[in-house]
Formats: sequence, structure tokens, C-alpha cells
Amino acid sequence: MDRILIRGGKPLNGVIHVRGAKNAVLPLMAAALMAEAPCILHNVPCLHDVFSMDKLLSDMGMKIDFTGRTMTLDPGGLNKPEAEYDLVRRMRASFFVLGPLLARFGKARVSLPGGCAIGSRPVDIHLKSLEAIGAKIRIEDGYVVAEGPLQGANVSLDFPSVGATENLLMAACMTPGVTRIANVAREPEIEDLARFLNALGAQISGAGTDLITIVGVDALGGAEHVVMPDRIEAGTFLAAGVATRGDVTVLNANADHLPVFLDKLREMGATVEVHGSRIRAHAANGLRGVNITTLPYPGFATDLQAQIMAAVTCAEGVSIIKETVFENRFMQLAQLNRMGADIGLDGNAAIVRGVKAISGAPVMASDLRASAALVIAGLAASRGETAISRVYHIDRGYERIEERLAGVGADIERVRT
Ligand code: UD1
Repeated sequence: MDRILIRGGKPLNGVIHVRGAKNAVLPLMAAALMAEAPCILHNVPCLHDVFSMDKLLSDMGMKIDFTGRTMTLDPGGLNKPEAEYDLVRRMRASFFVLGPLLARFGKARVSLPGGCAIGSRPVDIHLKSLEAIGAKIRIEDGYVVAEGPLQGANVSLDFPSVGATENLLMAACMTPGVTRIANVAREPEIEDLARFLNALGAQISGAGTDLITIVGVDALGGAEHVVMPDRIEAGTFLAAGVATRGDVTVLNANADHLPVFLDKLREMGATVEVHGSRIRAHAANGLRGVNITTLPYPGFATDLQAQIMAAVTCAEGVSIIKETVFENRFMQLAQLNRMGADIGLDGNAAIVRGVKAISGAPVMASDLRASAALVIAGLAASRGETAISRVYHIDRGYERIEERLAGVGADIERVRT
């Protein structure tokens, strides 16, 4: 199993290209299940989660060619509306195939998901919303078995779940009649998905607001689409720059997708400049702590909570970081304390008392974003070496993170053991 070794204390300095968004490309790939002609996706990141989705779709008969950053998905041979446990358990996003399969085949059998160890993460909203458009659903041997026929309806989600919005949005594209979904997630990845579906021939309006309307069509064709930039990756690299009192510019990013996050970096004392698709954040000594509450978009992204926590460990004063989207999403906390941070827990709030310095230590990655926080802490540690084990969590969502950070001056390497 690989480990990442970091000798911290060096300010990062330079430019990093942001890749295509993991959380956009996974539902886009699932949406190709509904197409009747090949789909071409550009700016696809090389991530373990993308390979997992590739495997899952290939098992259903999708022909996939992934060369460079371009992926062609040919649905001509699709013959199996089923997602096996062994493939689904690796990644919760596999569950996104449920809606498309149901719409395309009128039936689907999809294993209940696995994924990051961050709370219980049920799928009740996915199922309830599909039932609202007519799906008959039963749970059988750990699998969700869903059957049509589907019929457009007015649906209101109990919570603006990203995945449930995507599943229902996809299914509704090929559902007769009009479906109106209220209280939907407004994440930019939903807009990216709607753009792609519309390019396939769907009739969706309102994506990006909290009410989406879909007029069902009989069939979808193929399309070519460029995956949006990964806002979480951009935020992670900017946080790493600020935590090391460095000067990092991310390219091919979209600052509009990071509204609260960039303001919080400024509140910490960093200077943040936006020029088109470039975002630069630079910081010197004297960083201040900040209070943060994670919320559905456009609030502060839960996927950047761990990274900002790592960045404020050595800031002046106390930071209170509240996690309201997921339960149990402070996996990084104990590991950061092992590195000398002073972080306490009070219910869903982490209280970070800024310390003068943290030091390197052997730590263990536990989920994707918690692992990114450990990388940031390792880079910010003023002495010692940080050895991060279980780095496969990082590889799920960051493409060759060590090479890209080394490119901006980090002393970081991957060792194979
Ligand atoms: C997606 C993102 C993930 C991000 C999250 C919130 C992908 C592949 N993953 O995950 O990176 O952290 O959005 O921004 O896009 N919930 C229920 N019942 C449901 C569905 C969700 O109770 O049926 C709860 C979850 O347990 C969680 C909250 O709702 O507490 C948010 O989950 P959701 O928005 O669905 O996240 P995901 O789509 O799984």
C-alpha cells in the first residue's frame, strides 16, 4: 500500500491546473446510460472513482474508451440494468445509475451503496423521490429493485440532497409528462449535469435554482461535453497555499463556485485575487481563525471543511467549525491533534484553538477530504515528517496530488511499500 511522505514548513509557491470535477463526471457518466448514441466527455480527471464508475458501466455493457482526458461512452451494447454489490460498495456515487437505468429499461436492480465513512448516509430521499414519479421499489437481499412505469409529477425533496436530485433529474428526463422538483440541490455539478442532459435532447429548466422543471422526452441522443472544473480541488490547493503562508494560483477554476470559501480565506488574512479562470491566494504570517458552518450550496461546502480546519490549526485565536450536512465528518480531527493541533469537539462543532506550530507525525487517511486535510497539515508542519498511510482514499478524488504539490515547491513523495 502506498504512503505519502511530507516534510513540511515550506511555503508553496506557483501554479496548479485544476482538473475536471469528480462530482460532476460521475453523474455525467451515469447519464450516458440513457443515451442512444455515443457520448464524448472532455476534461475527465484520472481518478480511482472514475475508474470505478467505468468498471460499473462496462459491466452493464457500456463500451468505454478513456484516452488522455477524453472519454467516449458507447451505450450500443447495454444489456444489463443491474449494479452488483462488489462494484457499488466501493463508491456511493455508483447509486446514481438507479435513475438512468429505471428510465432507460423500465427496471433496475442496484446494490445499496458503500462509500466514504462519513455518517450513515441513507438513500431514503433517492427512493422516496423516485416513488413520487411512479417507481415501485423494494429492497431485496441488499439490493434496491425498482420498476416503472414512471409518470411525471410534482416532487418536493425533504432535504436538497445532491445525489437524490441527480437521480431524480436523470430519471425524469425520459419520464412521460412534466416533473417539477422543489427543494433541489443547487450545486454547480447539478447545472453541469443538466447542461449535458439538455445537449442529449432533454428538456430541463431551472437547474441551479431550487425548482427544476423537466418535460419528459421519448429518447435521448448522444452529445459532447466538457466537464466543469473541480471546485473542491481548487479550494484544497488554495487552502494548502494559505496554510503554508505561500502564494498559490489555481488555473482553470471558477471563483463563482467558491463564494463563501474565498471570503473565508480573506477573513483569515489571505489576499485572494480572481482573474477570469485564475484564482490566486497568498498569505503571510498573522493568519486569523474563522468560524464556518457547512451548508448545501451556495453555503460553505462540506467537502472543504476538513481542509479549512487544517489551515486554521496554526491561525491566531479560536475557530469554530460546524458541520451540518453530514454527521460524523470530523475524521481528520484526532489525526490533526496527533500532529500538535488543539481541536475539541462539541456536538457537531469542532473548536480549533490556534497553536504556534504543528509537527509531522505518522497519520492515517480515513476518507477522501479528511486525507486532503492531513496533506495540508503535513505541508504546514514546521518540523518533522508526516507519513500518510491508506492514501487510496486520496487517489479517489485527487489526481497525482504529490506530483502537483511538488510542482509548487512541496517536499512530498509517494513511496510504495
Ligand atoms: C454529494 C457529493 C459529496 C458531497 C455531498 C454534499 C458526489 C459524488 N458526492 O454526495 O462529495 O459531500 O454531495 O455536498 O457528488 N441524505 C439522506 N438521505 C438521502 C440522501 C442524503 O439522509 O437519501 C443525507 C446524507 O446522509 C447527508 C446529506 O443528506 O447527511 C447530504 O447528502 P447528499 O447531498 O445526498 O450527498 P451525496 O449526494 O451523497
